[in-house]
Amino acid sequence: MGTRPLLNRRLEGLGTTIFAEMSALATATGSINLGQGFPDTDGPAEIARAAADAVLTGRGNQYPPGPGIPELRTAIAEHQQRFHGLGYDPDTEVLVTAGATEAIAAALLALLEPGDEVIALEPFYDSYAACIAMAGARRVPLTLRAPSFRPDLDELRALITPRTRLILLNTPHNPTGTVLTPEELAAVAALAVEHDLLVVADEVYEHLVFEGAHHPIAALPGMRERTVSISSAGKTFSFTGWKVGWVTASAPLVAAVRTAKQYLTYVSAGPFQYAVAQALRLPDEYFAGFRADLRRKRDLLADGLAAAGFRVFRPEGTYFITTDITPLGEKDGMEFCRALPARCGVVAIPNVVFYDDAEAGRSLVRFAFCKQDAVLQEAVERLGRL
Ligand SMILES: Cc1ncc(COP(=O)(O)O)c(C=O)c1O
Repeated sequence: MGTRPLLNRRLEGLGTTIFAEMSALATATGSINLGQGFPDTDGPAEIARAAADAVLTGRGNQYPPGPGIPELRTAIAEHQQRFHGLGYDPDTEVLVTAGATEAIAAALLALLEPGDEVIALEPFYDSYAACIAMAGARRVPLTLRAPSFRPDLDELRALITPRTRLILLNTPHNPTGTVLTPEELAAVAALAVEHDLLVVADEVYEHLVFEGAHHPIAALPGMRERTVSISSAGKTFSFTGWKVGWVTASAPLVAAVRTAKQYLTYVSAGPFQYAVAQALRLPDEYFAGFRADLRRKRDLLADGLAAAGFRVFRPEGTYFITTDITPLGEKDGMEFCRALPARCGVVAIPNVVFYDDAEAGRSLVRFAFCKQDAVLQEAVERLGRL
């Protein structure tokens, strides 16, 4: 096979995701898995039934249309209008993808040239680094620093160069729980307009905001034609395994993203698309109830982690809590997380894996709270023994 490495240079260092490593550790040790962000109870039964019905009645069992089934594209457009006052044409401005993950990949592969720079909020969701690398572009982190985890907008301005093509935003932000304010979004938008930059906005936690509200950057002046908004059904409806996501953007942007998407998966998840169309039309009570439930879980875990001695950064949104382990006499989140299952039967994620600036994330550890109350209580009890 010669001496040339099999994995190409662009993907060097991107080996196994931390989620795979930690979820395997959770299974091997029988630990409570507060690492990966998936709920331990499924979403609404009527939506699960809609998926089963679609399979049994032969809807979506064969290749659905490339951009997604019309029912789902219409439901996505209605949802953008209903919750955010954003109008999109279901035929030309909506694209269904295999989860937000594919939407991110397709957007970056479609919109970037090798050598382009992408400014992304650090810590970043791990697929961002991989997709920027696969596009041959360069990531430029805008670091959110403890304790506030707010973006420094002067620093953002300073990071923009003639090579900057795109700002990759994530709000509500995983893993810090930061929800960008209207003022912060307006400042980002003004810079994007001034420097003629594209924005890719990952909004998968749009319905999980506990303080303030989610504001889509696409709604701001000058942003509609330069923003690719991305969301997905996984988090909002607690069906992360279905992998139904979507893009909303202007017709030329959707056409560009679709060009890449059609050669990634072409189409996916036919029957689930029918079910997600129904889910997006659930009454307001569903969305409010989901948020209230997760807020209670946030407080349960945050209080428990604080009682166990962690420094807790209570998140404004998402279903993750970032903590600092320094008060426990610990320094290194990676070591801490690798040892935690053996020490007390809990799995968490070291935030350092989401940073280029390892120092900024070294002592931070993330816990997911999208779990049953009894599971969270048991986890808190175990962590209390540390
Ligand atoms: C910020 C962020 N974006 C995207 C995703 C992936 O979404 P999906 O499962 O729809 O591909 C996740 C999942 O954890 C996430 O946290």
